[in-house]
Amino acid sequence: MISDSNSTSVTSRQNDLPIVLVGMMGVGKSTIGKMLASSLGIEFVDSDDEIEKAAGMTIAEIFEPSGEDGFRDGERRVIARLISEEPKVIATGGGAFVNEQTRALIKEQCISVWIDADLDILVERVARRSHRPLLVGRDPREVLTELSVKRTPFYEQADIHVRSDSGPHARTVNSILEALA
Ligand code: S3P
Repeated sequence: MISDSNSTSVTSRQNDLPIVLVGMMGVGKSTIGKMLASSLGIEFVDSDDEIEKAAGMTIAEIFEPSGEDGFRDGERRVIARLISEEPKVIATGGGAFVNEQTRALIKEQCISVWIDADLDILVERVARRSHRPLLVGRDPREVLTELSVKRTPFYEQADIHVRSDSGPHARTVNSILEALA
């Protein structure tokens, strides 16, 4: 039963592949990922946090000298490492699944879940924090619209597609658990 998801253990999953959450910035991948991991009794990790740890710099600091290409390269290496470890729930940055190599790796070795939400919800959620380099000095709605148009064809390649609305994240977690079952 979905509402009894806390009792689901990793051994009762149909397979032991990592679960990788993809989708636009602000959609709630980290919050949903933590809740999902706890329901499944497995570890949660955020690839942006791991990139920052590995580099000893913030994402914004990595973007400055290396530019986006340098960041994507580091992101691919960190995600490859996370995938090679014990299966876990991995929340990825919004652009990770757009990178061809990163996407191929995720498609081959993981269950990918695209979390999708209306633009108004994304705009409201990204406004809560100011750490995202792609939004600095620009109108968030404009950037999110552009990125969403470019990225949707890639996100559509994920194994599972769920929508997040303005309701509690637990609803999205339940949709993912249902799809995984
Ligand atoms: C990015 C999203 C960010 C982070 C970086 C680039 C993107 O992660 O990886 O700022 O390209 O959409 P979140 O999706 O967790 O905000």
